Amino acid sequence: MALILGIETSCDETGVAVYDTAQKKIISHNLFSQIDLHAQYGGVVPEIASRSQLEKIDIVTAHALQQAGVSIEQIDTIAVTSKPGLAGSLLIGVCFAKGLAWAHNKKIIGIDHLEGHVFSSCLDKDGSQIPTVPFPHLCLSVSGGHTALYLVRDFGSYELIANTIDDAAGEAFDKVAKTMGLGYPGGRAIEQLAKEVNFEDFFALPRTKTPGGQPFFSFSGLKTAVLYTLVKQGAYDLATGPIEEGMTHDLRQRISSSLLVCIADIFCNNLEVCLKKYPAIRGITFVGGVACNAYLRSRIGAVCEKRSMPFFAAPPAFCTDNGAMIAFIGSYKHEQEKFSDLTLDIF
Ligand code: KG4
Ligand code: ZN
Repeated sequence: MALILGIETSCDETGVAVYDTAQKKIISHNLFSQIDLHAQYGGVVPEIASRSQLEKIDIVTAHALQQAGVSIEQIDTIAVTSKPGLAGSLLIGVCFAKGLAWAHNKKIIGIDHLEGHVFSSCLDKDGSQIPTVPFPHLCLSVSGGHTALYLVRDFGSYELIANTIDDAAGEAFDKVAKTMGLGYPGGRAIEQLAKEVNFEDFFALPRTKTPGGQPFFSFSGLKTAVLYTLVKQGAYDLATGPIEEGMTHDLRQRISSSLLVCIADIFCNNLEVCLKKYPAIRGITFVGGVACNAYLRSRIGAVCEKRSMPFFAAPPAFCTDNGAMIAFIGSYKHEQEKFSDLTLDIF
């Protein structure tokens, strides 16, 4: 039985959690989000992100240990995100984890952030491990940085089967939101506006095709299509930017709703293609920041329901970046004895 400390600092969140392998449960998780620091710039500023990580890492860790009621001496293994992400932010977590491991003579494991997201669906909202997530399953992982489909065979055994060729879906939400003056990040505001008009499709934005029965994601064309729709509606000038009189609440609602429905259709279409291509699949999971979206969850849930197939979406607290998913990956890598050593580096 072991206690695993999980540390996540790959971007603009400082997340630390403790997983207890005896209870199969996250017994504490603590997070500092830098969203407010970056909002005024409309996106993450790497220099600000790494400075904030450095300021917060020890205090967030101390709180996570305190909430778990354990001391660093009782921790068996330290799991830390080592790739991919912003170099400066990753370095803070990895150097901090190595320092702790060296000073307290603990084992250390470097974790792939994307693997963290893939298995975050195995955690229930109280932090306990859900034993019923089936294998093999299909995982749709969507955030501001990635949009990918994985075939997941077992803990730590997964294969990337489709990846966006340009923007991520979350980026499409964020960029459209920015164009409409909705602030950063924009996904939640878009969902709220779409809900106000009952998720109707007003503009029939282009759905990417899945060529030859292969899953396929591309979102930069969709972003441009939204921009030209705004131009046509008299809400945007390509030379000068947004036109205040044209950018009405009503138009923002109709654009948001059409974008969300379009992205939902693209996701469902890709999932259908994969279910045909991989008949052994026994369930679908939905993870990453965009998986906070209740409409997308219900649409993907419906794809599964049609086939009486189980569907697991990560709890919202574990959708966006967090230490819990890193501690959880650390727990099975600890059991599989897949340790790193103090030469651990980023990337
Ligand atoms: O996983 P995450 O915290 O960070 C990245 O690794 O990017 O995801 C952030 C992304 C942003 O693009 C944000 O707009 C999106 O998740 N997001 C949402 C919602 N909540 C957050 N997108 C759609 N609907 C939401 N409710
Ligand atoms: Zn992430």
